[in-house]
Amino acid sequence: MKKKSILSVLFVGLFMIVLVAKGDNEPTKTATMPDDVKAVIEKSCFGCHNTDSRNEDAKKELDFKKLDELSTIKKIGTYKEIGETLEKGEMPPKKFLERFPDKQISDDEKKLLMDWSKKEAEALVKTK
Ligand code: HEC
Repeated sequence: MKKKSILSVLFVGLFMIVLVAKGDNEPTKTATMPDDVKAVIEKSCFGCHNTDSRNEDAKKELDFKKLDELSTIKKIGTYKEIGETLEKGEMPPKKFLERFPDKQISDDEKKLLMDWSKKEAEALVKTK
C-alpha cells in the first residue's frame, strides 16, 4: 500500500512537470514588434490608437493593444491599412501634428513602420 502511494505521488509530480514544460513551449500570441518599431508607434500613434484612448474614432479603427486579439484576416487588413495611411501621409493626422509637432514621424521612422507592417502582413498570409 505504501509503495503504491509513493508511486502515485511520483506519477502526479511527473505529470505536472510535463504540463509546465509544455506550457513553456507554446508559441506566444503577441505580435512581433521590434523595439524600434514600438518606440515610433508609442511616440506617434499609441496616444490615439489604444484601449484607453478617448479618441473613439481612432480606437474603433485601430487599437494597438488589441491587435493580437484580432483574427488573422483582420490583422492582415490592419497591417495593410497601417502601411497605406503612412504612405499617403494620413497618419498621424495633420491637425494633431500642428498642435504636437514633436510627435511628427521622420521619413526613416515612416519607412520603418511601413516595412514592418508589410512584413507582418506577408508573414500572416503565408501561415494562413
Ligand atoms: C490624434 C490622434 C491620432 C494619431 C496620433 C494617429 N491616429 Fe490613426 N486615426 C485617428 C482617427 C481619428 C482615425 C479614424 C478616422 C480616420 O480614418 O481619419 C484613425 C484611423 C487610422 C487607421 C484606419 C485607416 C483609415 O483610413 O481609417 C489607421 C490604419 C491608422 N489610423 C494608423 C495610424 C498610425 C500608423 C499612426 C501613427 C503613425 C496613427 N494612426 C496616429 C487618429 C489618430
